[in-house]
Amino acid sequence: MNQGPPAPAEALARARAAVQAAGRIVAVTGAGISAESGIPTFRGAGGLWRSFRPEDLAAPEAFQRDPRTVWEWYAWRRGLIAACVPNPGHDALARLALRQGHTTIVTQNVDGLHTRAAEIQAGGGDPTPAIPVEVHGAIDRDLCSGCGVRSPGSHSIEVSSVETLPRCVVCDALLRPDVIWFGEALETRVLSQAFSMAGQADVCLVAGTSALVHPAASIPLATLEHGGMVVEVNMEDTPLTRHAAISLRGSAGALLPALLDADDLP
Ligand code: OAD
Repeated sequence: MNQGPPAPAEALARARAAVQAAGRIVAVTGAGISAESGIPTFRGAGGLWRSFRPEDLAAPEAFQRDPRTVWEWYAWRRGLIAACVPNPGHDALARLALRQGHTTIVTQNVDGLHTRAAEIQAGGGDPTPAIPVEVHGAIDRDLCSGCGVRSPGSHSIEVSSVETLPRCVVCDALLRPDVIWFGEALETRVLSQAFSMAGQADVCLVAGTSALVHPAASIPLATLEHGGMVVEVNMEDTPLTRHAAISLRGSAGALLPALLDADDLP
């Protein structure tokens, strides 16, 4: 994988100083942080939206029209994600949240890898401080398309016909993956938690997101309004770059440990 040019040491040193001085930190992550675990991003080279049309697969109208095709795609993604493990970027963020105590991870990812990193890094202790706020849902969970009840998702969905798709035990409507689709509103409680955490943070560390999908892409702006700073980790510039006090160019798997695993950090 092309890891891009090495981050200039001076920018990295400034970012480390900012993290070290911060009382509260919020980390906002996107698909790029999971790229090094083998999970495709959505945009850019190899991105899912280069090969698939979101309106056919990730929209409520698509599910009404053709639930079998939608489930086929999500079953494929569930299988792909289940075979992946957290990478050093997830691990470094989890360690920071576990030791610093005032770090909140907010993720647009539905892959659950932050949670798995939290459990691994907690080493049998309490992973809670490193469990992320998942603003776009969780692919591993089902949501009833009728009554809205949530349940753990299954990995063995039979997608050969509509008749074999999973159904709600309460109301018998079709289950769907518990992820936010295009045109759907984010859950108010989850979104306000994310904005509230960002609005109290001294540093918003944004890693691996194209910052194109709102409202998630606006979360770091709450930190700026509070007087805090944005530190961006990405392979390339994004619309957020002009708001970032420090931009680190390179892979999250290399940069986050370099940024966060200093001995002298809190
Ligand atoms: P995108 O695919 O839009 O953007 C991924 C970003 O990660 C890009 O800016 C890449 O440059 C960057 N990137 C790639 N590899 C990286 C690496 N190894 N280290 C650091 N950065 C890297 O993904 P998101 O911004 O997460 O929505 O997309 C936002 C939302 O759009 C997703 O949550 C999803 C999608 O449609 C829903 O599922 C509702």
